[in-house]
Amino acid sequence: MQNGMIRKLKVQSQTGDYEVIIGSGLLTHIDEYLSSVIEHNAPLFLVYDEALDPLGYPEQVKTSLKNQYPVMASFAIPSGEHSKSLEMAGQLYQVAIKAGLDRKAVFLALGGGVTGDLAGFVAATYMRGVRFIQIPTTLLAHDSSIGGKVAVNLPEGKNLVGAFHSPELVIYDVKLLESLPDREMASGMAEAIKHGMIMSPELFYYIEESAEDLLQKDQNKLTDLLYMSCQVKANVVSQDEKETGLRAILNFGHTVGHAIEAMEYGTYTHGEAVAIGMMVETEISHLLGLSEPGIKERLGQLLTRCHLPTSLPDALKTSEEQEALVDQMRRDKKAELRSLAFVMPSGVGEVKMMRDVPEDIVIKALMS
Ligand SMILES: NC(=O)c1ccc[n+]([C@@H]2O[C@H](COP(=O)([O-])OP(=O)(O)OC[C@H]3O[C@@H](n4cnc5c(N)ncnc54)[C@H](O)[C@@H]3O)[C@@H](O)[C@H]2O)c1
Ligand SMILES: [Zn+2]
Repeated sequence: MQNGMIRKLKVQSQTGDYEVIIGSGLLTHIDEYLSSVIEHNAPLFLVYDEALDPLGYPEQVKTSLKNQYPVMASFAIPSGEHSKSLEMAGQLYQVAIKAGLDRKAVFLALGGGVTGDLAGFVAATYMRGVRFIQIPTTLLAHDSSIGGKVAVNLPEGKNLVGAFHSPELVIYDVKLLESLPDREMASGMAEAIKHGMIMSPELFYYIEESAEDLLQKDQNKLTDLLYMSCQVKANVVSQDEKETGLRAILNFGHTVGHAIEAMEYGTYTHGEAVAIGMMVETEISHLLGLSEPGIKERLGQLLTRCHLPTSLPDALKTSEEQEALVDQMRRDKKAELRSLAFVMPSGVGEVKMMRDVPEDIVIKALMS
């Protein structure tokens, strides 16, 4: 058994509850965690991000598994969003078939959100669905590995082909974050800050207290952060797995953030686009008189400490760009009847939702 703090939490799902285990150094004991949910000798398919090869993580997984589980196939996907494609999914089906994997197979996704979404999608569809385990390696993937949404992209847009398919287990080794580039750490912090803003003042205050230590990858503090942040996500999806209501609060920052990403302005990471989105949506809340005073400043200070942007660059504050962004928001896959709907904070840890927000208010907020 490894030393140090281990935190566990449960996610409820209509297809069976699952556990999220968080701690430093879990990877070398992965067989122990797996054996709590997967029968010995179940054939495994390890799918991982190729950037992890030189770091030795895939090898550590294989070594830890070798006495109890046969790894029948392993496949390194090229790093980056473009791997979340039907073509890559097709390659994974072929590898699985060639390795003789049947419905008893278990897929392991070792990587960030790209690997988890892709391997999860393939697991959801291969032979009408096989089991899978998430082993997230980015900070952002605490968001993507919980909740059962798996998908690939089409040239027409992100996540347009997907399924709900819950993992059997999420094993989160925070030690793996030691190699994560600073910008990817910041990107993941944006989602944790979002989780604090929508539901957990405790989490938000914790990040305020510890931002620098977290970015320096203090292992115990990261374990605590991920526990609290995963708890928010788990709490929301346990109550509303298929997004019929409550789950929409997770979209805070994302209506604007997705529009920024869709316009392909520069090269924002997802978290950076969401950070700007949270600021704009908080300003909308302020302009509508829905939020406590000072919230936007407090959010902005924390985002800045986490090296995240807090507003659109001036070059994008022209009326043409603003209209294009608003049009993109109306086309968001989650917008109903092209209405401008937003999830907005009313205080730290609480949000309100509003449809039909007037366009001039949205533009004013984008300009701020
Ligand atoms: N399913 C969901 O509910 C959900 C939720 C949020 C985001 N997502 C998806 O997640 C994806 C983004 O996830 P992401 O930010 O983890 O991106 P990612 O998987 O592309 O990883 C980011 C980068 O970090 C590298 N990397 C990964 N782990 C590393 C490590 N430990 N050390 C060094 N480098 C490492 C990767 O090679 C990549 O270059 C998007 O496709 C998004 O749509 C899904
Ligand atoms: Zn997000």
